[in-house]
Amino acid sequence: MRAFALLVALMMGAGTCAFIFWSGREPETAKAPANPPVAAPKVENAYTMGPASADGIGKFFHGREIAKVMGHPAIGWLERDEREREEAPSRAIEALDLQPNAVIADIGAGSGYHSFRIAPKVPLGSVIAVDIQQEMLDFVSKRAKELGITNVRPHLGAIDDLKLPPASLDAAWMVDSYHEFSHPQEMLASIFKAMKPGGRLFLLEFRAEDPRVPIKPLHKMTEAQAKLELESAGFRFVSNLRPLPWQHFLVFSRP
Ligand SMILES: C[S@@+](CC[C@H](N)C(=O)[O-])C[C@H]1O[C@@H](n2cnc3c(N)ncnc32)[C@H](O)[C@@H]1O
Repeated sequence: MRAFALLVALMMGAGTCAFIFWSGREPETAKAPANPPVAAPKVENAYTMGPASADGIGKFFHGREIAKVMGHPAIGWLERDEREREEAPSRAIEALDLQPNAVIADIGAGSGYHSFRIAPKVPLGSVIAVDIQQEMLDFVSKRAKELGITNVRPHLGAIDDLKLPPASLDAAWMVDSYHEFSHPQEMLASIFKAMKPGGRLFLLEFRAEDPRVPIKPLHKMTEAQAKLELESAGFRFVSNLRPLPWQHFLVFSRP
């Protein structure tokens, strides 16, 4: 009996040793690749519900109420002539340094206002114009034919999923759209997965810190809030380029 107890004690000791070795270092056979992709962090559900404001859906992400989606009948507003003066999109796109063969997703592309302006910067690559409204994508297809642009690809996403292959994007571009994603946590996780490590995410949102920006409150964001939300999804803040009259031009990277 005493011999049996001794044997059990020795086995338990060996198990503890094995645990220490396993937790302390990788086994020789499991060599890590040179640049291991960083996985998106596991995040707790950061949603809360509350009374909905006139422009909101009563769902809050990290304390920010999510805005209602702009419907396709508002295409005229997206394509308005004053947009260049008000938002200076050409200045934003000029600051976008992309390789000629880059693949960039314009997420929440709407009418493709930015997609078509980015397309000449990636003559050997493509702009994937992602939206959840088929009517927006039909407009993009029609406009592509009219303009003779062949590297803008309309793509139907879901409210909580980009529906693009993993590590297929060099960059992601979101203008005035992120604040109305009904499932930002799931969308950010899906964007993270679809981007290549080292890829950049450009987030343009109307500045909530500036009361002179004549946009409804739920359609604006502060830099601090944007950082909180994107960093919670594993993105790293790089800079705020600040060249625009009304919007933040925030750059994040996907580690
Ligand atoms: C205000 S519009 C902006 C369009 C365009 N980015 C622009 O600045 O001209 C926002 C767009 O985001 C789209 N959207 C909302 N939620 C989305 C999601 N989860 N995935 C992709 N697009 C989404 C809407 O359908 C709408 O077309």
